[in-house]
Amino acid sequence: GRSWRGLIEEYRERLPVTTKTPVVTLLEGGTPLVPARRVSELTGCEVYLKVEGANPTGSFKDRGMTMAISKAVEEGAKAVICASTGNTSASAAAYAVRAGLTCAVLVPKGKIAMGKLAQALVHGATLLQVEGSFDDCLEMTRKLSADYPIALVNSVNPFRLQGQKTAAFEIVDALGDAPDIHCIPVGNAGNISAYWMGYQEYAEDGISTKRPRMFGFQASGSAPIVEGAPVAHPHTIATAIRIGNPASWGLATAARDESGGVIQAVTDRQIAAAYKLLAQEEGVFVELASAASVAGLLQAHSQGLVEPGQRIVCTVTGNGLKDPDWAISGAPAPVVIPIDVHAAAAALNLA
Ligand code: F0G
Repeated sequence: GRSWRGLIEEYRERLPVTTKTPVVTLLEGGTPLVPARRVSELTGCEVYLKVEGANPTGSFKDRGMTMAISKAVEEGAKAVICASTGNTSASAAAYAVRAGLTCAVLVPKGKIAMGKLAQALVHGATLLQVEGSFDDCLEMTRKLSADYPIALVNSVNPFRLQGQKTAAFEIVDALGDAPDIHCIPVGNAGNISAYWMGYQEYAEDGISTKRPRMFGFQASGSAPIVEGAPVAHPHTIATAIRIGNPASWGLATAARDESGGVIQAVTDRQIAAAYKLLAQEEGVFVELASAASVAGLLQAHSQGLVEPGQRIVCTVTGNGLKDPDWAISGAPAPVVIPIDVHAAAAALNLA
């Protein structure tokens, strides 16, 4: 068949673009929906992973960014700004290059993974490390974009969610109908809201016969929606979702309630275990935050919230290569040997 054209062209009639919109794309979307054999076994369900780390900059953010940057160019912007735990800034930096815009990013100092920092720098964004949290950064970028001629491309920009809803379309297109349950990590809460928009839109138009229950998962040290109050000093090893006051809070709880779903917390220990399981038993290398969807599914299953035989999709939001420090620190140190086949054979327990 023909090759993938990027999500704006693939879903043009479902997105707020016109023939006048300059399409800024890196051919994002069209990501793999991989059957998860081991997670299926553990849950007695038919589980798939929506592998968003396969997007051009290694996370689902590219779906929102192709829309946000295209619309920013259409509206005459010359500069864009975002707050980020790392992935949004990586994506904004790349799409800004593509569009010929300048890009400024505010990140919490010392709290973003090395790969993400590298991406913003290599794409030439101006990176400010703020001595504060993501929530502080977002508040600052909101004020800057209100007071200066610089366009905000965080998910409070409605075009972001429009782009991100296409992941739900792809899932229904691939499975022939919506799944019974959709599991997803929750940070600033844009993505769960976007998926719910996408699933609803397809159901309303009769493309799917049902809507999934939305299961969202926050890290337990950063679980404001679960606790029902903002968290002043959020903490978690999953730095991508280290957020204490999500911008799309209301949309996320609506997605939960309208779908008959849940938003729960999973511990760092559960997240780390799911990260390892995905890498070592599914062959899928994700970043820590992404593993929250699978950690959450396993928890919900153990609580009896998941009937056997259900069809379930877990979004794994970002590529494991984003955070090489975590990957390496958790693995055994590689063995050093001389240039000697016998030494290699011995080290490999072949001899
Ligand atoms: N997973 C990853 C890998 C993320 O980078 C994010 C958010 C999420 C999950 C949560 O998605 O915010 O829509 O609920 N990262 C943002 C960023 C905050 O700045 O890159 P959400």
